[in-house]
Amino acid sequence: MQSVIIYESMWGHTAAIARAVAGQLEQYGPVKLVSVLDATPSTLDGADLLVVGGPTHVHGMSRPSTRASTAETEAIPGAATGPGVREWLDTIPHVKGRWATAFDTRIDKPRWLVGAASGGIGRALRKHGYRMVVPAESFVVTDSEGPLKAGEIQRAAAWADVVGRRVAEKLEARALAH
Ligand SMILES: Cc1cc2nc3c(=O)[nH]c(=O)nc-3n(C[C@H](O)[C@H](O)[C@H](O)COP(=O)(O)O)c2cc1C
Repeated sequence: MQSVIIYESMWGHTAAIARAVAGQLEQYGPVKLVSVLDATPSTLDGADLLVVGGPTHVHGMSRPSTRASTAETEAIPGAATGPGVREWLDTIPHVKGRWATAFDTRIDKPRWLVGAASGGIGRALRKHGYRMVVPAESFVVTDSEGPLKAGEIQRAAAWADVVGRRVAEKLEARALAH
């Protein structure tokens, strides 16, 4: 089972979650962990599972204007100028029968109040033909600029384990059916 994780991150919180997800998925097969700044449509070649994560900005995925507001404080060079996952998702090829899921980081408040980028990421993935293997998930920061809440890295690893197990089962079932 081959997994690709694409993440966007200004201050490193979403990147830290992406690393935890990657570390866990490695027990199911090879994993490519790629910043959206380096991703191309061909990054996805051969992937059985695509996981896309980004920070929540103004209730959804970042936009050029929201990223620009972090230009003075970005921890990941180039993140403020982008592209972000919103722009990258517009470039990916349509697929059939591939699995995906999404995650975001956001403030630790009710979703109806603060939004969640993973909703839009999930919709874009489905629009491109991906099937969601588990619902999108949010991981939270304790304040607008972080840090991640205690335990979120472990929760991300546990979530990734469910994702990996489900995809492995589905691939096995598909192989048996052929
Ligand atoms: C311009 C901007 C807008 C934000 N808007 C929201 C928001 O609407 N809801 C929310 O929960 N968090 C919001 N946040 C907080 C980020 O989602 C949070 O800091 C996130 O963990 C950052 O992840 P990163 O370090 O990977 O960029 C915003 C942050 C920025 C910079």
